[in-house]
Amino acid sequence: MNKHPAWFYDELQQVGVDFEDMTQVAAYDRNQTSNTPEACQVLIEQLGIAADHSVIELGTGTGTFAIQAALIGAKVYAVDVSQAMLTYAKQKASMADVKSIEFHHAGFLTYEHQGNLADFIVTKFALHHLSDFWKMAALLRMASMLKVGGILCLRDVVFSFEAAQYQDSINAWIKRVSKPAGEGFTAEDFATHVREEHSTFSWIIEGMLTRAGFEIESADYPTPEYAQYICRKLSL
Ligand SMILES: C[S@@+](CC[C@H](N)C(=O)[O-])C[C@H]1O[C@@H](n2cnc3c(N)ncnc32)[C@H](O)[C@@H]1O
Repeated sequence: MNKHPAWFYDELQQVGVDFEDMTQVAAYDRNQTSNTPEACQVLIEQLGIAADHSVIELGTGTGTFAIQAALIGAKVYAVDVSQAMLTYAKQKASMADVKSIEFHHAGFLTYEHQGNLADFIVTKFALHHLSDFWKMAALLRMASMLKVGGILCLRDVVFSFEAAQYQDSINAWIKRVSKPAGEGFTAEDFATHVREEHSTFSWIIEGMLTRAGFEIESADYPTPEYAQYICRKLSL
């Protein structure tokens, strides 16, 4: 019997890019520029993740961050709604001789954390798969899985340009970052993201984080289309 009511969002459905398609998964991994093992190591050090910490990664994708965190000895729970992504991530973990990651086929709205409350939750470029209503539900669920004082690191495509400038800003972004086919993410990849996925404005995300019970320790906007938030779970 389905334990969710009829109005509950089915997060296993694919929105935008079809990450159940192994070709898309392999292309995604190949096109990565910011999610390299070296970049993940920098993030691990920035967050202060160490061997005795527990880390939940939601939307682990091809598993690069989860593998790096496991390699330093953290207990990692790697969660994704895409079986194809999980298969790919498991292969990468096996090639790196990492056996300690717990992989879970679930998502922001359905993952049920069974262990002790986590020290860290990391989610990168995945929350935009949910609409704003469901992002809020996801953030509330993340807060419930973290220890008081635990850290949430959220990275995503988030828009901090002036709302009234949305057309010029999106056009300029796509022109700046897209690559020819075969050399990286194309203009059509970015167009699909804007058209079919749910990236939103920074002031909406910041409001949601605060309402979900987090203190935003840092909000970085390296460009007007990307954000990283490091947030601490407050006591109730
Ligand atoms: C763009 S990829 C990012 C992967 C990885 N975090 C990275 O930084 O490269 C988005 C990932 O989010 C996953 N995803 C989509 N909807 C999700 C949900 N509701 N819960 C958890 N993961 C989801 C997709 O299957 C995909 O693996």
